[in-house]
Amino acid sequence: MHYSEFGLSNTKTLLKRAMRDGYAVPAFNFYNMETLMAILRAAEITQSPIILAVSESALKYMTGDILMGMIRGAKYKRGQIALHLDHGHSFEICKYACDLGFSSVMFDGSNLPLDKNISESKRIAQHVHKFNVSLETELGVLSGIEDENTKSKSHLYTDPNIVKDFVKQTDTDSLAISIGTSHGAYKRKSANESLRFDILEQIANNIPNTPLVLHGASSIPQKYVNTINKFGGDIKNARGISPSQIRRAISMHIAKVNVDSDSRLAFTSAVRKAMANNPENFDPRQYLATGMDEITKNCIDEIQNIMGSGYKIN
Ligand code: G3H
Ligand code: 13P
Ligand code: ZN
Repeated sequence: MHYSEFGLSNTKTLLKRAMRDGYAVPAFNFYNMETLMAILRAAEITQSPIILAVSESALKYMTGDILMGMIRGAKYKRGQIALHLDHGHSFEICKYACDLGFSSVMFDGSNLPLDKNISESKRIAQHVHKFNVSLETELGVLSGIEDENTKSKSHLYTDPNIVKDFVKQTDTDSLAISIGTSHGAYKRKSANESLRFDILEQIANNIPNTPLVLHGASSIPQKYVNTINKFGGDIKNARGISPSQIRRAISMHIAKVNVDSDSRLAFTSAVRKAMANNPENFDPRQYLATGMDEITKNCIDEIQNIMGSGYKIN
């Protein structure tokens, strides 16, 4: 089915407006009814456009049919929501998402040799563009630049010198870049470790009309880490990217910001707390509802205080 029948928007449209008006559209990952409903509620309350992101493993977990059944049944403002495949690793999965009714796909060829990343990205662009589905790609990371803060080579950065050619050759609609973020809850060695804004600036100068995407952008709110650890968890030393750094990146052409770990932490902290405080309860709806509420709260907070996307709908 085509995404227009679900009232979805593609990301090209959403990100173009974000670039023009200087905010970022949040891409929040979901994997079940609770996470989907929580994110949509936050979008409704804040009147924010949002991107519903589904990883390959989340798609497998929900199955395509159940996922699209939920999308069909969910209430949202037509034209303000995109359904996006996050980190698709093959032509086939991108095509499948397109067939299901996704309005946007990411092809992540960042681990491929550059020429293969270009040829696959281009092939996928040609296919999805036939349906007006948007494509996000990720440019192969540049190894060997020494991280000034850690003096290590553990971070791999996008090479600003090849982005223009990559975008031209692939016809991608947006580009995920690497400036020091990483996935998960253990991103930084210290709180003052900085993203590579110098690299971001060069990339933005070289491709000023291409919306840039920041993956691994969770801020890892310490209140959730503390609650999880207090109620039996063990996620010590979890640390994210500070909201001020993400805001700065948004002011420098980042138009899509990906957040998954923060929602996982919000949900898990609320569920752990509810279970500990209500040992007699064994109705999952009771603790799942608390998890859902906490994701909504956190998404609202990030939309208002980081993304700047509240009240940016037509
Ligand atoms: O970028 C990765 C996302 O956080 C999704 O991760 O494959 O565990 O769903 P996942
Ligand atoms: P986090 O792990 O920082 O939430 O990143 C999520 C992400 O990039 C999804 O693609
Ligand atoms: Zn990612």
